[in-house]
This record gives sequence, structure tokens and C-alpha cells, in this order.
Amino acid sequence: MSRAPKILIFDSGLGGLTVWGEVARLLPDARLVYAADDAAFPYGALREDILIARVLTVMQRLITLCAPDAVVIACNTASTLALPHLRAKFPEIPFIGTVPAIKPAASLSRSGLISVLATPGTVARDYTRELVRTYAAHCEVTLAGSRELAPFAEAFMQGKSVSDAAIAQEIAPAFVTSGDQRTDCVVLACTHYPLLLGHFERLAPWPVEWIDPAPAIARRTSHVLREQLGFPAAGPASAPHYAVFTGAMTLGPDLLEALRLRGIEKTIVEKVPLAA
Ligand code: DGL
Repeated sequence: MSRAPKILIFDSGLGGLTVWGEVARLLPDARLVYAADDAAFPYGALREDILIARVLTVMQRLITLCAPDAVVIACNTASTLALPHLRAKFPEIPFIGTVPAIKPAASLSRSGLISVLATPGTVARDYTRELVRTYAAHCEVTLAGSRELAPFAEAFMQGKSVSDAAIAQEIAPAFVTSGDQRTDCVVLACTHYPLLLGHFERLAPWPVEWIDPAPAIARRTSHVLREQLGFPAAGPASAPHYAVFTGAMTLGPDLLEALRLRGIEKTIVEKVPLAA
């Protein structure tokens, strides 16, 4: 194949930019399209049947609009639920998902106390509980669901201030002690959370390993592109990256600068109202 591969990186909001960074670093020859379903943000608050239908509807529009060679679902809340539905509906396109990094946390932990910090949707999923059973049966796993952290990360990216006290309160349930042991690994199981990592490190009651799955997702994407789809490594992509928003996200100067720093100069609004 002589043309540049096109990868769509999808999330409910701006969290997928944490995966974007790793994919862009590993695959400089790929054309990247970022898509945020901001009209339906936050996914963590949606009922499961509504979320599945929503992701399928939006993905249909994005595939028609962007014609990607592969899609990264850079969202735990959507991946832990909708991946089989997406693969069934669009069998010609490889989907790379993002699911809680429980396996690496369980093998890294010395204390045996690990926590999964995620949206309320992700902590409630059968998929997440199955990961715990399969890979962390020897650990004490705390599932800490937060309604607020993803919106805080969005606000932060928009240049708004977020309260340290409010963030500290949201991460506190992930810090657990048992006898003389304490949590030593926290899985960042929402792609928004690495955007707040500086806050987390500063506000944590004690230091822990924060597990961000983005590098592993980028490696998986590279494997799919090179091995499965046969795109050889090449020089940097010449066509510009761009971003698509489904709603009315305010594209203020801070956000535009954050996008520009990631090589995204152009934004498109493709309205998909939540009721659609
Ligand atoms: N970034 C998404 C995730 O990884 C969730 C944010 C939301 O609730 O929409 O789970």
C-alpha cells in the first residue's frame, strides 16, 4: 500500500487525546482524525442500551465522513460495552479498544492492593469485573467510580480552573489500607484521567504507580496497521490531522491551542444530537 493509513481516534470528549499522543508518536506516517462525541458527553452517565445505540449511530456517521482504515475506541466506558457491537456492524474495519489495565497493575503491585479509577459506567461493567476475576484474583481490587473527574478534565482542557479539593475528594476512594499494606497501583481506567495526572500526583495521599494504557493501545494500533492491514512504515504523513465534534463544545483559545500542540489545525462540527 502506498498511501498513508488513516486512523480514527474516538472518545466521548477530550480524553482520547491521551491516546492520540501515543499513537501519533508511534505512527508518524498515519493520518489521524480525532472524534469527540461531545453531544453525548459524559458516556459514564448513560444507560447501557442507550450508549450502545449511540456509539453505533455516531460511528456510522464518522465512518461515512472520514473513511478510516482502523478505529481506536479511546474510551473505556464505550469499549467495555460496545466493542462487540461495533465489530459486528462494521466487520471490514479493525477496532482497537481501551479497557482497564487491570492485568499490568496486578502483576506490578507489591502490596496486592490495586485500584481502578473509572467512570461509574466502567466500574459497573461485567467486562471490568471479569478482568478482575481473570487477572487479579490474587489482589484486593477497589473499583472507584467517579462522576466528576471526566468533566473536570474537560474543564481543565478548556482552560478553566478545577478545584484541588474536589479532585482530592474524587481520588480518595482509590487509596486503601489493609493491615500494614496500602494501595500501590491505580489504574487510570478513563482516558480523561491522564489529562489530570499532574493534579493526581500532587494530591494523592501517598505515591502510587498510575497505570495509563495509552502506550499499549498505540502498540496494538501499530500492530494492526502493519501486520493486519499491511501498511509499511513510511515518512511523516503530509495531509493534516483534523478533529470532528458532534455537539456544541466551545472551541476556546485554550482548547484550540491544546489541539494545535497535537498537530490538529482543523476542526469540523458534524452535529449528531443525542436523541438521534
Ligand atoms: N474517556 C471516557 C473513558 O475512557 C469516559 C468519559 C465519559 O464519561 O464520557 O471512559
